[in-house]
Amino acid sequence: MFESLPGFREFYPEDYKTRDYLFQKWRSAVESVGFEAYEGPVLEPLELYTEKMGQEISDQLFHFVDKGARKVALRPEMTRTLGRMIAARANALKRPIKWYNIGDHFRYERMQKGRTRCFTQLNVDIFGEAGVLADAEAISTLVLVCQSLGLTSDHFYVRLSDRDLWVSLMEGWGIPAEKQGEVLSCIDKLEKQGESKTINNLSSIIGESAEPLFEKISKLIGLKSVKAIEQWVDLEFDEQKRQNIQKRLGECSLLLESLDTLGCADFVELDLGIVRGLAYYTGFVFEAFEKGKDSRALAGGGRYNNLIKSLGGPDMPAVGWGMGDVTMTDCLVENDLLHISEDQIRVFAISFENTRKQALRDITKLRARGVSAQFSYKSGGFSKQLKEANQKGCSHALIYGEDELARGEVIIKDLRKEKEVSIPLQDLETYHFE
Ligand code: HAM
Repeated sequence: MFESLPGFREFYPEDYKTRDYLFQKWRSAVESVGFEAYEGPVLEPLELYTEKMGQEISDQLFHFVDKGARKVALRPEMTRTLGRMIAARANALKRPIKWYNIGDHFRYERMQKGRTRCFTQLNVDIFGEAGVLADAEAISTLVLVCQSLGLTSDHFYVRLSDRDLWVSLMEGWGIPAEKQGEVLSCIDKLEKQGESKTINNLSSIIGESAEPLFEKISKLIGLKSVKAIEQWVDLEFDEQKRQNIQKRLGECSLLLESLDTLGCADFVELDLGIVRGLAYYTGFVFEAFEKGKDSRALAGGGRYNNLIKSLGGPDMPAVGWGMGDVTMTDCLVENDLLHISEDQIRVFAISFENTRKQALRDITKLRARGVSAQFSYKSGGFSKQLKEANQKGCSHALIYGEDELARGEVIIKDLRKEKEVSIPLQDLETYHFE
């Protein structure tokens, strides 16, 4: 028998219900904030991802040469496709542009918990606004999405950091611009790689001063408030070097204040340990995690003010995030938060040899007015058909007995309440099932 490829999931109807539930919650939460849906291609030119993407994600591409000799890749993320779409119509689109997408993405990752090779992401992005209110709305939407799924501040939190702040700190330490990206990448991996490996990596970038630099970085990561960072900066740098850093810390304070006003204070923690692996991020970056667990991030994102320009568009600020369905579903299952109520109206017609034609004609009319209606393919007895209706989770049975039909009637049995009524056949066309 053929098996599916490793990391490619199959969703049998039972599992699909969970998936559908998650997508509906995602959709209604982001639409309540005014985000509009869009879609792009799943297959893209390879070069969209090979330039300045971040090493890890470039290594994970599913790519091949198509029959037209084009080098192509399955999309590993949405942001570059979206960036290109925005760049192409930047001048015609009304700003701020607030768009979302729910779609599949592909990464050839090492298989582990929370990671698959084909996963669905909710992407939420805002374009055309450089001020912190856009960052605040992006983050508060992330919090809202999690809340709409029943998660509280006991379950998750958002770690907020700032690449701009790191850049001004590195400038203060005299790290040359061309090496700053590599240092950021070391900070990004610090949690995973630990102290000695990070020091080794840093020394291959900046030489002997790696150890003192590591000490400073670790100290900063331990500081969880703007005030504490400010105090540390006062001792570390002279007045001239402090200026840029202080300016940036001012922006951090503004963002935290806005998040507080938007009701997110309990969910957001300043944590400079987050840097994000994707190379296009420019300012605030953030990741959402389940509390008290060592699991992979529920979501991640940040500012990426240069991407639209680098894709041929105008200068256009951007901020957004992506949330995966794999870690989120695991989190909801583990916290017993997947309560999917099946309150749908579904009708099942029970009929017999002499009444079947009438049942099928009525079913066709019900379907035409949007009522979900089914019947048995087998001409079994009443109890067999009733069993089938229950197995299919139907809410109502229409019973076409010969006597009822002779009187021009049909019985409607509510299978959830075990109640039934008899109505004239012609009333079925307008009958309101509830
Ligand atoms: P990312 O951090 O690479 O960011 O992915 C965002 C989320 O997608 C992760 O936190 C995780 O939930 C999910 N995810 C990523 N890789 C996998 C995988 N192999 N298996 C299962 N889930 C996965 C981005 O992709 C950015 N483009 C997000 C963004 C949007 N930034 C700005 N706008």
